[in-house]
Amino acid sequence: MKRLIIVAVFFVFTMLSCAVGKSVIKPDSDIFTIKTNSPSDKISRKVLMAGNWKMNKTVSESLSVIKTLKKAVSDVKDVEILIFPSYTALQAINNETKDSNINIGAQNLFWEAKGAFTGEISPAMIKDTGCSYVLIGHSERRQYFGETDETVNKKIKAAMAEGLIPIVCIGETLKEMETNVTFQAIEKHMKEGLAGLTVEQASSLVIVYEPVWAIGTGIPVTPDRAQETHAFIRKIYAKMYKEAADKIRILYGASVNPENVSAFMKKPDIDGSLVGKASLEAESFSKLIKYSK
Ligand code: PGA
Repeated sequence: MKRLIIVAVFFVFTMLSCAVGKSVIKPDSDIFTIKTNSPSDKISRKVLMAGNWKMNKTVSESLSVIKTLKKAVSDVKDVEILIFPSYTALQAINNETKDSNINIGAQNLFWEAKGAFTGEISPAMIKDTGCSYVLIGHSERRQYFGETDETVNKKIKAAMAEGLIPIVCIGETLKEMETNVTFQAIEKHMKEGLAGLTVEQASSLVIVYEPVWAIGTGIPVTPDRAQETHAFIRKIYAKMYKEAADKIRILYGASVNPENVSAFMKKPDIDGSLVGKASLEAESFSKLIKYSK
């Protein structure tokens, strides 16, 4: 009898410790969502390759590139493809890409809905041309057209209110890089430019890290340096918007081409690229989209 009691107590004790053990190893959602650099997080974020055509190409030139690109990438499924043509070509490009795997976006927008703002384009007008994305705060807009983190913030909110996905550019200037304040500059762009969103809104946008001094030079930063900055961006974003940090895609932009893209894409916090020059021709952009994994 005594032996039976001992066996029963041992059995109950073992069952209890198993149950406790299970609850201990149950994933803690906070820990899981805040950490960065996990390969599984990267898998859940679809790679995005976006071509920024800047102020290049007439409507017919744009159409000719898009027609070739469409054929060249028709078999691509694992990469999301996006083109930012000029405003004037948006409608025509939308007609051409409607049934394809190419998405389109505008290179800028104004935050007001309508009114006496000569030369500006509203979020609804952009949506109306078939765009799903809009580029906000590109360094050329900051440099030549006086955009600030404050205007970037207004534009992000206006875009989201219209159901457009903002692709927000941040990065250090040459002077900031030379004076070793890269991280401070990036943190300021984020804390001011990306302020005041709900976690849900914060989970849906895309951030692009573009070292301003490397844009259009043909000489990008090293993939290691880019990774370090991307991890920093994700860390700051986690402090601002918790689980949104692991969900959002952070693209690298500045002098990416078909030859160097694979090295960037191997990094755990780099989820795609914003490409200028190398997106202007269908041949180089399609090669870049089909980078070797
Ligand atoms: P780049 O431009 O690829 O020509 O350097 C990138 C960008 O400005 O978005």
